[in-house]
Amino acid sequence: MKKYNNGEFRLKDIDQEYTIYGWVNKRRNIGKLIFVDLRDRSGLIQVVFNKEYLQTPFEEAESLRNEYCLKVTGKLVKRSDINPNIPTGEVELIASNLEILSEAEVLPFNIYEETEASEALTLKYRYLDLRRERLQANIMMRAKIAKAVRNYLTENGFIEIETPILCKSTPEGARDYIVPSRISKGSFYALPQSPQIFKQLLMVGGFEKYFQIAKCFRDEDLRADRQPEFTQIDLEMSFVEQEDIINTVENMLKSVVKDIKGITLSDFPRITWKEAMEKYGSDKPDTRFAMELNDITDILKDTTITFINEALKIGCLAKCLVVKNEANNFSRNDIDKLTDFIKTYQAKSLIWFKYLDNNFNGGIAKTLEPDKLTKLKESLQLNNNDLVLIIIDKPNILYNSLGALRLKLGNDLNLIPQDKLNFLWVVDFPMFEYSETDKRYKAMHHPFTMPKNLEDITKPEICLSNAYDIVLNGYELGGGSVRIHNPKTQKQVFDALGLTEEDIKNKFGFFIEAFKYGAPPHAGLAIGLERFTMLMSGTDNIKDVIAFPKTQSASDLMSEAPNIVSLDQLQELGLKIDIKKEVK
Ligand code: AMO
Repeated sequence: MKKYNNGEFRLKDIDQEYTIYGWVNKRRNIGKLIFVDLRDRSGLIQVVFNKEYLQTPFEEAESLRNEYCLKVTGKLVKRSDINPNIPTGEVELIASNLEILSEAEVLPFNIYEETEASEALTLKYRYLDLRRERLQANIMMRAKIAKAVRNYLTENGFIEIETPILCKSTPEGARDYIVPSRISKGSFYALPQSPQIFKQLLMVGGFEKYFQIAKCFRDEDLRADRQPEFTQIDLEMSFVEQEDIINTVENMLKSVVKDIKGITLSDFPRITWKEAMEKYGSDKPDTRFAMELNDITDILKDTTITFINEALKIGCLAKCLVVKNEANNFSRNDIDKLTDFIKTYQAKSLIWFKYLDNNFNGGIAKTLEPDKLTKLKESLQLNNNDLVLIIIDKPNILYNSLGALRLKLGNDLNLIPQDKLNFLWVVDFPMFEYSETDKRYKAMHHPFTMPKNLEDITKPEICLSNAYDIVLNGYELGGGSVRIHNPKTQKQVFDALGLTEEDIKNKFGFFIEAFKYGAPPHAGLAIGLERFTMLMSGTDNIKDVIAFPKTQSASDLMSEAPNIVSLDQLQELGLKIDIKKEVK
């Protein structure tokens, strides 16, 4: 039987009989008439129960409550009181038959408005939260994106292949979720953090162009854009270079955005990692607004202000932001708050001055040499009412703190146009990064990434890689790299990472083995489907694009996972729990 979509009825459809289904979204009872807005996923239609036309007992219509699930048959007519607020506002269905398919108790929270209901409550009853229009739209947007991606890649010769979920634990960025084996007691599988190893082995296996919309699992600290399980649009190609991946992915993204939003995007700009850090203090810059970082190390060098002079002598840099035409709006107290903010990024202090009425005012203006202030004015092209915010620190801390301050000011001062989609390629990532915790260099992307210049492998502080990220509106949307396909280069990288033969054999033995048998040159990339959907649907919370998301502490409040399992289950797996569950 044809199902009519409630939200799609228009004037052209009147004077016919229809059977519709849905939930009572709102009802009004005026004596002989009962009005019900009946909702399905396409929208609402007003249904009128009138004693005169209703063949089912009128008491049934009177018994209706919000969220009852109904089947209604009736005739569509033109409405006398047009409701301009809903697309079906010119028509209504005069019911002749009513069938209550399910009754509903009073809902634990109001789903008709953006309520104050706590996340604990809305996640516990997620299936009710999902009835909201906003969440339905996001989840449908996600499905559309996945479909558009699948179409694009399939049409362009990619083969969709599923890779295992029960894997071997191999070190990637985050902690693994592990699964005990019943048959091999004491051994564990790991859930994949990404299909990285398998997709590379598929290239060795001769598939040339692979993709997968792949579930990934990472036991890491959660943030507004991270979940313990998430989905990647994962792809890999053989016989290609970095440029081919960038072009393929850029064309795919353009095609998806065109499909879904009808927007034709121009070519994505590219910047190097170094330039991104220097200009924006971030490897995922939000380029929807300017306010770039300015290097003023040379101007401040040799100042008589001791703490600045000494910091610059030991390799700290001095950089600043110019907040245009806002100086008068920043009180001492506001600047103190910004200082507290940058301190959370380990920066020591925020140095500042204002340029007001042709004068340098406040903060460091009293103590900094006048010729240096003049040089700053010229170099920063200061105008009346500009505020200058300076941080002097070690490069890492400086970039992190000033980059975060830039974003904060962009948001606080409403400098970020919300309707833009600014894609950006960040290329030439460093091959290695120094881990202060482990006191050694680690691979910045992963150890299978191809160095840009093989001669630099032994110089970890300058060695760049053929790794690239795609950034959208200040979020890392995806990342990838050209992979090493030759065992000799791989060995050199492992050596640079300080891995012993035994480490290599234990961690990646099977993987390295595969590269002995004619591995093709290959490269790939993965995009976070949730992050992409978030940005396409204008939300900044990843939970809004996942049907059943987890909380900040990685639990599912609805099904109450994770939970304890029975002693029998543990015994069968050969496991014994040594931690007393906290008694609340
Ligand atoms: P990477 O680790 O950069 O690369 O991940 C690729 C993209 O996946 C998304 N992502 C996440 N989304 C939600 N929650 C998370 N916890 C989470 N972690 C990552 C991001 C990110 O940009 N194997 C490589 C790709 C490759 O080299 O081909 C990889 O996984 O959007």
